[in-house]
Amino acid sequence: MWRADILTLYPDMFPGPLGASLSGDALERGIWSLATHQIRDHGRGRHRAVDDTPAGGGPGMVLRADVLGEAIDAVSVADDPRPRLYMSPRGRRLDQAFVRELAGGPGAIILCGRFEGIDERVIAGRDLIEVSIGDYVLSGGELAAMVMLDACVRLLPGVMGASASGEEESFESGLLEYPHYTRPRDWEGRMIPDILLSGDHGAIARWRREQALKLTRERRPDLLDPRDDLPE
Ligand code: ADE
Repeated sequence: MWRADILTLYPDMFPGPLGASLSGDALERGIWSLATHQIRDHGRGRHRAVDDTPAGGGPGMVLRADVLGEAIDAVSVADDPRPRLYMSPRGRRLDQAFVRELAGGPGAIILCGRFEGIDERVIAGRDLIEVSIGDYVLSGGELAAMVMLDACVRLLPGVMGASASGEEESFESGLLEYPHYTRPRDWEGRMIPDILLSGDHGAIARWRREQALKLTRERRPDLLDPRDDLPE
């Protein structure tokens, strides 16, 4: 079973959307597991404080290294093979290659931050890999963790009904996806392209590849390798 352990101050946010649809079914079927852990359980003092003012001054609060170290150690035993990830806009940008790598492993331990951030020493002290889901700032790592988990879980064996459908979609081929159509053939005067109704599977495959290339060139030229310029 692919196992996710989440460290958060807001365990009630989970499973959230991960409890529905494809990932929710897979959770119920035991293909993956999700456990949340309240960071505050390791808080200090009568008020179970988890944060403090930043050394050197400045706005906001910083999650304490001792609290986080303890919280991580309570979840991750010494020889746990799972990567320890810290959701952070400073991190390595999540992409389909990294998702595939994570999904191919035993799971993940995921730290979700709040406030201004976490004490920097925890990152090296507990070998955290910082992961960002994009160049914008969320109010915490929880939604980012859900996005990452959704992307991973759908790749686990047995999760996608027609498992082949994962291989043709955007990014798996390195291209954006070709356009899809279904009935009716004429919708408000907009027709399904004739080639798709021709029954010529070779021609359809070539057309789709051309469309994928055209879309990628127009919208995401950064994804294109020069070798992809000639349709196969
Ligand atoms: N926490 C706040 N913003 C984030 C982002 N863009 N990616 C991952 N974690 C975050």
